[in-house]
Amino acid sequence: MTVDTLGVGLVSVGWMGRLHSRAYRALPDHFPELGVRPRLVVAADPLPAARDQAVGRLGYERAVADFHEVLADPAVDVVSICSPNFLHREMAVAAAQAGKPFWIEKPMGRYASDSRAIHEAVERAGLVTSVGFNYRHAPAVQRARELVRSGRLGRITNVRGSLLADYSSDPDAPLTWRFERERAGSGVLGDLLSHGLDLAQYLVGRIAGVTALAETFIESRPRPGAGIVDRSAAAPGEHGPVENEDYAALLFRFEGGAVGTMDSSRVMRGPHAEYTLEVYGTRGSVRWDFQRLNELQVALDGQEVDGYVTHLVAPGDGHFARFQPGAGTAMGYDDLKTIEAAQFVASVLRGEQLAPSVADGLAAASIVEAAEASLVDGAWHDVARVDGRLTTDAAAPVL
Ligand SMILES: NC(=O)c1ccc[n+]([C@@H]2O[C@H](COP(=O)([O-])OP(=O)(O)OC[C@H]3O[C@@H](n4cnc5c(N)ncnc54)[C@H](O)[C@@H]3O)[C@@H](O)[C@H]2O)c1
Repeated sequence: MTVDTLGVGLVSVGWMGRLHSRAYRALPDHFPELGVRPRLVVAADPLPAARDQAVGRLGYERAVADFHEVLADPAVDVVSICSPNFLHREMAVAAAQAGKPFWIEKPMGRYASDSRAIHEAVERAGLVTSVGFNYRHAPAVQRARELVRSGRLGRITNVRGSLLADYSSDPDAPLTWRFERERAGSGVLGDLLSHGLDLAQYLVGRIAGVTALAETFIESRPRPGAGIVDRSAAAPGEHGPVENEDYAALLFRFEGGAVGTMDSSRVMRGPHAEYTLEVYGTRGSVRWDFQRLNELQVALDGQEVDGYVTHLVAPGDGHFARFQPGAGTAMGYDDLKTIEAAQFVASVLRGEQLAPSVADGLAAASIVEAAEASLVDGAWHDVARVDGRLTTDAAAPVL
């Protein structure tokens, strides 16, 4: 790697693979002080159409079917792993063994056992990493964290989170890998609550104990035709079982004494991507909703107006000023990924873990693991402690 070239290898050219690619390309524009001009070297995907897209649309120099070729290429300095969950462990452990710093999507593997294996491989190799906990980077979330951590909200008493989505609300949507235990692991626990739980830990602190309930509301779905990710060749109309939860609700306790509730669904009719987090303290509270990315509801003792005031994010909040000149001109979802790419690349250049880490990925997976144990016996379960480079308690990363 030289200052002006950073060789990027991509594993899997789906939604997230395309987004990671756009994020790398945006770095010289939004984070010029990093001094890198990413070179998109090679992308891997078994689907020929995805490989064509990687070269023709995203700008990779070449595309291959086997991800091992990405890891073996000496021109590749960093790797993005954007595959379905069941491939994360094999790919991330191989990347660590090849000595390639990687940016992996959440949830990190299917189960906490996958996340532990990835975390151990990374610690053995001494690499920096990044995990796709993109909601952390919203300027409104950054401002909320400052208010919580500075004590402006007083003693934090409780957190409410809710991640309500409609992406699987159509009962005729096909039975993809996301609904299979073997290839996805959990349902909304890993897919959506991993985001919410990471945010809760990032704002307030470590979650130490949890109890949960879960339901599957759409119990079967039409089997898709044969494919690489969807491998079953089904007769038209044939249904198969949904093996993981559509809905989950958690009660939890923070190590510091606060308590919390969080629920999530992927089959709601109404909300689209209503991901909210609310933090309540003895002197005020903050509320954020992803669907209103650039707004933070704030109520503070002593403010002139009673009740909630809507703060529109502005220069000074997180990295807003790198994207827009002033409040009211909105940042978008892709911008959060550009910030994540910048934190990853800065981590690689400095050899210091600034981005959300695989330890953070394991920490979220450990809460999901405790919640799944609670689903079996209905009891409260302690969350396994993670020793490693957690960034949830770090000061805001300086880029
Ligand atoms: N951070 C977020 O907010 C967010 C949002 C969506 C998805 N995700 C995560 O990103 C990951 C990918 O999700 P997606 O929506 O991009 O999936 P997708 O279905 O759009 O893409 C998956 C890609 O993986 C490819 N693939 C399958 N087998 C492969 C193999 N052996 N080698 C290389 N590639 C292979 C497929 O061909 C496909 O192109 C998942 O872990 C998901 O949970 C994160």
